Amino acid sequence: MLIVFLGAPGAGKGTQAKTLAQKQNLTHLATGDLLRAEVAAATALGLAAKAFMDRGDLVPDDVMIGMIKGRLEGPDSDGILLDGFPRTVAQATALDEALTTANTSVDRSIFFKVSEEELVRRLAGRATCPNCQRPYHDTFNKPQNTDKCDDCGSDLIRREDDKPEAVRNRLKVYATQTTPVLEHYQKVGNLVEVDGEQSIDAVQEDLAAAIG
Ligand code: AP5
Ligand code: MG
Repeated sequence: MLIVFLGAPGAGKGTQAKTLAQKQNLTHLATGDLLRAEVAAATALGLAAKAFMDRGDLVPDDVMIGMIKGRLEGPDSDGILLDGFPRTVAQATALDEALTTANTSVDRSIFFKVSEEELVRRLAGRATCPNCQRPYHDTFNKPQNTDKCDDCGSDLIRREDDKPEAVRNRLKVYATQTTPVLEHYQKVGNLVEVDGEQSIDAVQEDLAAAIG
């Protein structure tokens, strides 16, 4: 099974992906998380990507396509959940080509629909685990112990790109470069829209129904 999560920054992709991947034994491939790991390890890729990420721009397509391609083969699980990829039509086309070569395809693409006002509220209050990347929120999704991750106990941090200026740019970049990807999957015929503005549990239920 191959599922693609689509939606604006702050729509809840990472929050839902963590739970769904656990429940359905899927490999969660989150390109933002993979890039942040490269930045933390100060690899050449991480150093090159950091400036794009901090200001909320997309990392170039060739880097992202290379990063994801090798990870699509033979996951040690019941399938793959792509979170944050594809984010441009060029990435979607490259993914289609790689999957066609492997005789497979995207089973379901899920669009999390959330208003811009709510996205800004979510990103402004987000805290993230730098170790396992689980997202929390000051009001909507608090950790059990203040400022510590429930899963791994690490101290939570604020992402550099959650600062207001970067958030404004991320939303602009999303509108211009990523919304055409929705049309791409609409044409393919596997796109399902989920109301991402509901509670975390309600979204999880709709998601389970959408995946079937
Ligand atoms: P990435 O890490 O993918 O960031 P993003 O797409 O901007 O998405 P977020 O992680 O910000 O939001 P989310 O939808 O996961 O929401 P979350 O669950 O955390 O990418 C970062 C950067 O890497 C990019 O800007 C780019 O530079 C680069 N990059 C990554 N992939 C790339 C690619 N393919 N091509 C090029 N560049 C790429 O939730 C948000 C908040 O809301 C949290 O606080 C959470 O607790 C809360 N929340 C979640 N659900 C609910 C709910 N239902 N109700 C109330 N609160 C909720
Ligand atoms: Mg995320």
